[in-house]
Amino acid sequence: MSSHPIGVFDSGIGGMTVVKEIFTTVPRESIVYFGDTARWPYGAKSVDTIQRYAREDTELLLAYDVKMIVVACNTVSATAIGEVERLAGNIPVIGMIGPCAKAAVSSTKNGKIGIIGTEATIASKAYERAIEVEAKLAGISCKIMSQACPLFVPLAEEGWTRHLATELVAEEYLNELRMNEVDTLILGCTHYPVLFDVIQRTMGSKVTLINSGAEAAKLVADILNENGEFSDRSPSHTVLVSDIPRKFQTVGERLLGQAMPEARQVIWKESWTVQR
Ligand code: DGL
Repeated sequence: MSSHPIGVFDSGIGGMTVVKEIFTTVPRESIVYFGDTARWPYGAKSVDTIQRYAREDTELLLAYDVKMIVVACNTVSATAIGEVERLAGNIPVIGMIGPCAKAAVSSTKNGKIGIIGTEATIASKAYERAIEVEAKLAGISCKIMSQACPLFVPLAEEGWTRHLATELVAEEYLNELRMNEVDTLILGCTHYPVLFDVIQRTMGSKVTLINSGAEAAKLVADILNENGEFSDRSPSHTVLVSDIPRKFQTVGERLLGQAMPEARQVIWKESWTVQR
């Protein structure tokens, strides 16, 4: 048993879709959530910058004595998970890539798997590498196709889940994946589960959508079980953000699907160095 909290971080608010899945899977656990709203979005930034942010985000969660770190952000999971693992030491780190790759390989019937995510996630090819490993273990061969869908993020935050604009954007982004007959599509970004219905409609009802948060949450439960670290106390949650929590509360609660504790602001004291 362990009453220490699970630390979860994301570039901003989107990680609440992952917390929602963790709440469903392990409802007795306490969560410390950090959303780096001051530096959001990470998805179009360089790997060096994302890795630096990931180190700083991890340091904050470690100060809360967490028993596990969940990297809710797919962009960090794809480009900087090694940095988080290095700082976390013996504390288990769960990213989004591995659990999704495994689920996609066991779901596909025709071996055609699609991935959608931010520009940084797609450019990293992290999902491709993980799927290839899983496919090899399963003894199948897969054809993998990917597509960056950056506009899905603001549309999800606006709550435009049934808007014509979202339908048109989805058609534009997903057309090629549908033409190539992928039968399994990884939603490789925190925000995409919010647009689940429109993505499903655009891809067709026969395509299986893999929700990264849901897959990661199953792994959270498995690891807590293996380590005998389920909590024996009533849960108490902490929400931290790096910018003023203005819109965070309303959008966060929409993504989470329930009320959440009031977000508190944390400040990173850094200094600038001019590059030579
Ligand atoms: N949280 C990011 C992800 O899952 C999406 C938003 C961003 O670009 O920071 O990749």
